[in-house]
Amino acid sequence: MQVVHTIADLRAALAGRGRPAFVPTMGNLHAGHLALVRQARPLGDVLVASIFVNRLQFLPHEDFDSYPRTLQADCKLLEAEHCDIVFAPRESDLYPQPQTFRVQPDPRLADVLEGHFRPGFFAGVCTVVLKLFGCVFGGHPGTAVFGRKDYQQQMVIRQMVRQFALPIDIATADISRATDGLALSSRNAYLSPEERGEAVQLGRALQALAQAALALRQPLPALESDAARVLGARGWQVDYLTVRQRADLQAPEGKPQAGQLVALGAARLGKTRLIDNLEF
Ligand code: PAF
Repeated sequence: MQVVHTIADLRAALAGRGRPAFVPTMGNLHAGHLALVRQARPLGDVLVASIFVNRLQFLPHEDFDSYPRTLQADCKLLEAEHCDIVFAPRESDLYPQPQTFRVQPDPRLADVLEGHFRPGFFAGVCTVVLKLFGCVFGGHPGTAVFGRKDYQQQMVIRQMVRQFALPIDIATADISRATDGLALSSRNAYLSPEERGEAVQLGRALQALAQAALALRQPLPALESDAARVLGARGWQVDYLTVRQRADLQAPEGKPQAGQLVALGAARLGKTRLIDNLEF
């Protein structure tokens, strides 16, 4: 496995290696990332993972500075998964000048949910992902794999790829969960033991909301407020718990139809903000 830091070294390492399968990450890898890598393996001739904590997608009060940087441990895990190339640029490699050009995603998709609570987040994600795609694929065909835990992110990226006619297939991987059901996330490491025990309640709240939405004894907004109240009473600060259409993340019109919906949630437990979702 080669570990490269500069775009020039990445391009040299990729030369003549065929079609890349690419897994972009911010590092601090866990079993969820490794599942993406395993899924990516057969999708290309050369398997590339990137590790880069992207300043552009963090708000000033968020955890950019404290986000765990664990390059050595990450490389060991990637090597064990038979990754061919790790691209781990320094900030000065990827953003040698201030990145004044940004990708502005469609506000109908990117300004709701995560984008509402984290303004500018998806512009930051799309800008770095487009740049990473340029570094890894250089306009040639390939496949990139994203996790479905970041449900809205993979939708925004699919739309970006379509609208810019990039020859890149986007594959998504199921959410990896701990045995108690908590969605795996690098930010789970911030939870105290007590919070870790409680954290599973976010996924349970989404399950209960999905069941209630299909039974539809009350209008959806009332069910969503109830769900937020229940989690709030347990000490969570809820950003949103909501049922949306999978197609466009808008609120469903008419009676919610099973098979077309997703329940999405984001809430803070102590200092840790967790997200999760459930298709139903
Ligand atoms: O999902 C992530 O880890 C990040 O948003 C990504 C796609 C690597 C871009 O920084």
